[in-house]
Amino acid sequence: MRSVVVISNERPADGAEARPYEPIKAATVRRITASAIARRKGKQRFPVCTAYDAPFGRFVEEAGIDVILVGDSVGNVVLGYDETTPVTVDEMIHHAKAVSRGTSRAHVIVDMPFGSYHVSDEDALRNAIRMVKEAGACSVKLEGGVHEAERISALTAAGIPVVGHIGVTPQTAGLGPGYKMRTNRERLLADARAVEAAGAFAIVLEVVDPQIAGEITQMLHIPTIGIGAGAACDAQVLVIHDLLGMYPHSPSFAKRYADIGSVAVTALRAFGDDVRNGGFPS
Ligand code: KIV
Repeated sequence: MRSVVVISNERPADGAEARPYEPIKAATVRRITASAIARRKGKQRFPVCTAYDAPFGRFVEEAGIDVILVGDSVGNVVLGYDETTPVTVDEMIHHAKAVSRGTSRAHVIVDMPFGSYHVSDEDALRNAIRMVKEAGACSVKLEGGVHEAERISALTAAGIPVVGHIGVTPQTAGLGPGYKMRTNRERLLADARAVEAAGAFAIVLEVVDPQIAGEITQMLHIPTIGIGAGAACDAQVLVIHDLLGMYPHSPSFAKRYADIGSVAVTALRAFGDDVRNGGFPS
């Protein structure tokens, strides 16, 4: 059992043993910082998982996964869109707030949705500040390499930690480039270098040729977080709905660790039958 020491600032009663003065500390639990995550590079492979609401944030944290991404994949797996492209800043804040409320220690990365950082540095900064102040984001993630390096610099200069994201970038994949594995080595290396040089503390490599992902992981000083990019990355991220079997259109690289969707349907069917047959309430 954990013992709790209560430290009081009150003077001891006459005759009581004087205890050394210690200032009373606020009971806030500090979250894992961006720099603590960056320091994992080359030491410890780590898992990252998405969450979009308080209970699932809590499950992820209770499972010992201390880096949570509130991805704009919320658009596909929760909001019923076909793409992430329509997701708005307000929708991201709504979901990220819930994840922040449901967790206490995890580092919460919040995705900047399409259009929230494309117009100007000022616009990107205004939206990223909303993520931090309103949603409790510990850091933000944005898609793009060389072309978004200036935005990453603007955010990090303002003290907002940034995660980069290269390879398949779903916000624009449906507008042209598609979801095929990225194999253009020169371009991927240039993008990765630009993201690191701009000040990102980690970078997602999505559906990147595993050999190139390995080369990028060797080349960079910041952790690479792979998704469909092979085993050489410093971390692996999965969308929680893919991992738990709660989404019917999971990509082939995702591993399903449970079939919560079937469990839910079975339970709901039993409830429906009980009500129809008079088995509930009993
Ligand atoms: O939105 C998301 O969930 C992501 C991951 C797939 C990396 O960006």
